[in-house]
Amino acid sequence: MAKTGAKTYYITTMGCQMNEHDSERIAGLLEAYGYVQAEDISEADLILFNTCCVRENPENKLYGRLGEIKRLKEKNPNLIVGVCGCMVQQDVQRERLEESYPYVDLIFGTHNLHRVPALLERAEAGERVIEVWDEAQEQVEGVPAKRGHDLKAWVNVTFGCDNFCSYCIVPYVRGRCRSREKEAVLSEIRDLVAKGYREVTLLGQNVNAYGKDLDSPLDFADLLAEVNAIPGLWRVRFTTSHPRDVDDKMIEALARLEKVCEHLHLPLQSGSSRILARMNRGYTSEQYLKLVEKIKRAVPGISLTTDIIVGFPGETDEDFAETMRVVEEVRYDSAFTFVYSPRVGTPAAKMPDQVPEEVKKERIMALVDLQKSISEDANRSYLGKEVEVLVEGPSKNNDQVLASRTRTNKLVHFSGGPELIGKLVTVKITEITPWTLYGEMVGESK
Ligand code: 5AD
Ligand code: SF4
Repeated sequence: MAKTGAKTYYITTMGCQMNEHDSERIAGLLEAYGYVQAEDISEADLILFNTCCVRENPENKLYGRLGEIKRLKEKNPNLIVGVCGCMVQQDVQRERLEESYPYVDLIFGTHNLHRVPALLERAEAGERVIEVWDEAQEQVEGVPAKRGHDLKAWVNVTFGCDNFCSYCIVPYVRGRCRSREKEAVLSEIRDLVAKGYREVTLLGQNVNAYGKDLDSPLDFADLLAEVNAIPGLWRVRFTTSHPRDVDDKMIEALARLEKVCEHLHLPLQSGSSRILARMNRGYTSEQYLKLVEKIKRAVPGISLTTDIIVGFPGETDEDFAETMRVVEEVRYDSAFTFVYSPRVGTPAAKMPDQVPEEVKKERIMALVDLQKSISEDANRSYLGKEVEVLVEGPSKNNDQVLASRTRTNKLVHFSGGPELIGKLVTVKITEITPWTLYGEMVGESK
């Protein structure tokens, strides 16, 4: 509930985990400034959209939502409407917002989110505030995050990306890859553990590039080892890894470090080496498959997840068939599948042989079907097994049922009381769907 008198905010987040975590940091700053979270968007004094521009869909969604917000603004002229995040880093989108959406009062980018209190203060005084930096200035530490969970937390390790995959807008809107200093990462995690957090997910567009830009010769495997050594922390995850940068040292770390969970998100993007070259991914499908084999040998039972794009310019039926073959061979636990969406300013958007929408649609449907049956098979292999899960809280739809996760990041539902929340328990799996495992608790481990 809002304290009487305190102003309230409502943040809508689009896009990836990086954006989700940015919203946690923005919320932390807003609360330090005196705002409290609104229960409902219609009651908020500040409505903020943290946007994504990786595909066209989330962009269209923003413009749709702004249309609805206009009505709220007409009812309450004191309402402050803000837009931030990746979309406003693109000149074309920022200009469109500036010119065609005069009721947007506050616009800031990904590189200056720490400035939100100062910018908001000006917006409160009636000024239209637009401040978007083209690139990051000094690394800003100590931004307080209002985290969505009290057991597991996201921790940034790198910002930005240097890879310039030919379809991707991220390097243009998030800038070059910058690593946080090791001590900043470790002290944030120690602080989280002191507050009762048990699990961290290290975040970066390409975590395997960690450290390459720092003065100290430290790589991602070294960082993982130091995080692993933090007392009181139980589980360590990380995302995303670029297949080109996953080396033997990192696989060895994944196998050896006991807190590092047996799950790797390893974006394939395409199973065709010809398309991978056009995507500028830096590996062939043969190299990718060899890497997967090595990882599976080193870490038995590891769960692998991926990102795949269908309908990249020039993708033929044969190229798509190769993607399907690789998916069959790897047998991912789950996959995020995307229809290629041209992004202005990227090389792929200018490629001549764009794939027709109906072909893209057919391909994505075939891929989603295939992956669904593979996910179901992968989950079936858990039937009858006992697995250790971390209990996160009541399940979304039934508070008699607990939601928990295996080390391999599978969602497990089982009956149990709230006293189990925050504990590691052993559950025997009795039922599965492609998305969820169901089981019975057989013991408590921690
Ligand atoms: N079109 C479709 N999917 C894209 N991705 C990135 N850019 C595009 C694009 N232009 C996907 C990639 C990436 C994920 C986060 O989004 O699969 O790994
Ligand atoms: Fe985009 Fe490629 Fe960087 Fe991922 S690795 S953020 S897909 S440029």
